[in-house]
Amino acid sequence: MSQPRDILITSALPYANGPIHIGHLVEYIQTDIWARFQKMRGHNCWYVCADDAHGTPIMLRARQEGITPEQLIARVAEEHQADFAAFRVGFDNYHSTHSPENQHYATLIYERNRDAGHIAKRMITQAYDPVEQMFLPDRFIKGECPKCGAPDQYGDNCEACGASYSPAELKNPRSAVSGAVPEQRESDHYFFRLGDFETMLKEWTRGGSLQKEVANKLDEWFEAGLQEWDISRDAPYFGFEIPDHPGKFFYVWLDAPIGYMASFQNLCDKTPGLDFDRFWGRDSTAELYHFIGKDIIYFHALFFPAMLHGAGFRTPSAIFAHGFLTVDGQKMSKSRGTFIKARTYLDHLNPEYLRYYFAAKLGSSVDDIDLNLEDFTARVNADLVGKVVNIASRCAGFIGKRFDGRLSGALAEPELFAEFIAAGDSIAAAYEKREFSRAVREIMALADRANQYIDEKAPWVVAKQDGREAELQDICSMGLNLFRVLIGYLRPILPATAAESESFLRIDPLTWEALATPLIDHVIAPFKPLMTRVDPKQIEAMLEASKEDLSATGSTVAAAAPAAVNPHLERDPVAAPIDYDSFAKVDLRVALIREARLVEGADKLLQLTLDLGGETRNVFAGIRSAYDPKELEGRMTVMVANLAPRKMRFGVSEGMVLAAGPGGKDLFILSPDSGAEPGMKVK
Ligand code: MSP
Ligand code: ZN
Repeated sequence: MSQPRDILITSALPYANGPIHIGHLVEYIQTDIWARFQKMRGHNCWYVCADDAHGTPIMLRARQEGITPEQLIARVAEEHQADFAAFRVGFDNYHSTHSPENQHYATLIYERNRDAGHIAKRMITQAYDPVEQMFLPDRFIKGECPKCGAPDQYGDNCEACGASYSPAELKNPRSAVSGAVPEQRESDHYFFRLGDFETMLKEWTRGGSLQKEVANKLDEWFEAGLQEWDISRDAPYFGFEIPDHPGKFFYVWLDAPIGYMASFQNLCDKTPGLDFDRFWGRDSTAELYHFIGKDIIYFHALFFPAMLHGAGFRTPSAIFAHGFLTVDGQKMSKSRGTFIKARTYLDHLNPEYLRYYFAAKLGSSVDDIDLNLEDFTARVNADLVGKVVNIASRCAGFIGKRFDGRLSGALAEPELFAEFIAAGDSIAAAYEKREFSRAVREIMALADRANQYIDEKAPWVVAKQDGREAELQDICSMGLNLFRVLIGYLRPILPATAAESESFLRIDPLTWEALATPLIDHVIAPFKPLMTRVDPKQIEAMLEASKEDLSATGSTVAAAAPAAVNPHLERDPVAAPIDYDSFAKVDLRVALIREARLVEGADKLLQLTLDLGGETRNVFAGIRSAYDPKELEGRMTVMVANLAPRKMRFGVSEGMVLAAGPGGKDLFILSPDSGAEPGMKVK
């Protein structure tokens, strides 16, 4: 075999605000197969990943759950890693972007680019939520579609008619965080001058290692002109503070890809002899590959290589983009039960099945891939159980019972064995090019050949005839040797089955090179069934459970609802059910409004002093547009008394009063029936 190559491989870093689902798994399984293949070939290959832990959605998600972002990302990190381990995604290191290593490299890369003049600063105008006191990313502005009028659409495109627009065009815009009408505010932002890198990026692109589709996309982007990239965000934000500007943070997408470096640095720190610069230094001769989904090509093909280059690091050897997963020909859907979490899959099915199915579907293009559940069942049962495992089960019994587990002293059909070994070059070439479906086809053709051999030799007939003992041993030994080569070829795809086969054959973990040496006069262990068939009932149960998950997690049902007659329901459909315990956590109290005042500098807010029958609370409420302070004083209302205090620009708000209505003059605070007293619990 040629010189071992130094190879560093990454998968995109999953966001730390949600579980791993089978769509994600396309990528992690694809990358893992490739990494396992390279290792099996004897290369010096490392596969690293991390959680992508920063950004507004994670900050808000934590707030919603009443925990800190650090607590949220710690919990999710555990869940993600348990899921990956169960699917045998064999990372050499799994880290987090919220780590000292990542802060170090993000800061370093920023500072070097800044000192080289690649960072600009200018003022921008952006939507601002006056109640939450935060700037709103597009995704957090909702309103009516300017084209078709559909309610409840996000700030950048309409799910009803498909139109795309800017958030400023939305009719009746509202903050998705507080429901407040967003204001336009100015703020200083930092921009990365991507245009400075046009020549370098074009050269990098023409290096020849990009997929055709990716290269075409890049050409389009070059033609459209490279825009400056906004890399800063205002507080409150969960991320790293920009060193020379307290209160401003790096945008999550700045430090996310740098997380690849951070995870590798973290690995180097615990692996003697592994040197960071050998893989990331400007003169590195190591290979560096990023596996990603087609939705994040822009970040990986433009921003990241440019920033690396600007900071004196090497650029990736290639990025490998894949398409999106559909299930039964459609986008994964919560209502159909096809939005399947890794965990739900594991509750019902063997992960090796999915690894095999994806491999059988994956090529090197960015085409979407479809999980057809009927085809999934048929293929796993026919190929894995019916062909591959079957070879072992047809031969192993005789070897165990009649020969004490001992294989023959010579190969019965050396030419057939040689044919299997010769096929290895083409299979390896297919793996190398990420043409996994071709590798699988070629391996299954060999499996057919092995079964044909056993059919022809009919060991079950030979076994019944006297004086044919040696022949029986030879046939079954030959069959098991073919099985061993097949398992070797499938090993990157089926690591668990390969490990069990290796222990059944009593052999060391297979390498590609070792395959050519057959097992001669070797004793194997008693056979245990390696894999069972998929039962369509398991699939049914998994789909059912995925539907159930939906109500359990409380996400809103986005199913095509019948045209609601009531405009309020249309604007705000009733949320998914919650259990009683979740409701009981909210402590609602009757409160007397002792004082109500205008707030200097906040034209939406009133400051209320609420009396809970002894204790008082200071609350800022966004109801000024509907109420005169004087008409509120002395009224009874209902408040959330145990909401964590929130620091606002005008003071600390210690709870929330409840009100209904779309906003403006149409806001209606709640009143208890007469007789209710301050401090009474609402339940
Ligand atoms: N956090 C970013 C990536 C940062 S990389 C420096 C992100 N996270 S993600 O959780 O949304 O997605 C992680 C990876 O999974 C991405 O490459 C994405 O394309 C891929 N997939 C997410 N859903 C997918 C499907 N339904 N199908 C196939 N791949 C999918 O993006
Ligand atoms: Zn629309």
